[in-house]
Amino acid sequence: MERTANMLDAVPDLWQEASVAVWAEPESRRIASLNFDDAQVDNVASISLADAPHASLGLDPVSLNRFVLCLLAADWACYPDPANREAYPHLQHAVTVFPKGFRLWTAGAGGCILPIGYSAFHPISPATFAVLRDAPQTITNRRQITPQPQTASGEQYLYLYNIGILPRFHRTEASQALMRAFREDLDATAHRGLAAIIVSPDGQRVIERFGLRQSGVITHDGHEELAYVSDE
Ligand SMILES: CC(C)(COP(=O)(O)OP(=O)(O)OC[C@H]1O[C@@H](n2cnc3c(N)ncnc32)[C@H](O)[C@@H]1OP(=O)(O)O)[C@@H](O)C(=O)NCCC(=O)NCCS
Repeated sequence: MERTANMLDAVPDLWQEASVAVWAEPESRRIASLNFDDAQVDNVASISLADAPHASLGLDPVSLNRFVLCLLAADWACYPDPANREAYPHLQHAVTVFPKGFRLWTAGAGGCILPIGYSAFHPISPATFAVLRDAPQTITNRRQITPQPQTASGEQYLYLYNIGILPRFHRTEASQALMRAFREDLDATAHRGLAAIIVSPDGQRVIERFGLRQSGVITHDGHEELAYVSDE
């Protein structure tokens, strides 16, 4: 846990989208090019804001923002194509609305702990789920899939926001652990159904294993992406 705290302390205190991008671009390239000590699971760990009370992760705005910047660096390191990357303001908003849906995965490299991937989900309203199921073609930007805080009723649906880990950890115990933890995190949150947007064959493979089926196509900044929903 101390090593996680050191990782977060090393992240700069940036809040403006332009300055975040100036930091995240080389940082994500550095992470993607590192030789990690060992791709096996004993060198890999995760931290979730659901664990924050038991972990050395503060929920004050500065610590939370550093956590978001680590998620962003992992996101950009996993998705070299800028069309698939998350934008900082959208990611920060989603984390603020539903912090416990975000789990950051880390690994050691040269004595440091670095972000290597993350899983994320957040509640969406029944109306947003209905659009993803019945009229995905009306979505022209992923930002239209608005995150909601969790309600007590359990009537909400969950949007699978991201599952990603650096390529060198694909098909390893680390990606298995990521998938297992993601399923456990989803199971721990009451929901009526699941929805997702798919940008890659990897995403299609793992999302279909969650029981989702394609409902149509959305566009995001002019690119076509696949909408997936579960049966209720
Ligand atoms: C998505 C990603 C994390 C999956 O990792 P992977 O190593 O390629 O995943 P695999 O399909 O080999 O599955 C690994 C293990 O996870 C587990 N798993 C996969 N899907 C699962 C699911 N839906 N529920 C529970 N466990 C699951 C299984 O144990 C599987 O091992 P098995 O096939 O021996 O049973 C990885 O491919 C990745 O980061 N890709 C790039 C980012 C990306 O495109 N993300 C999707 C965006 S839509």
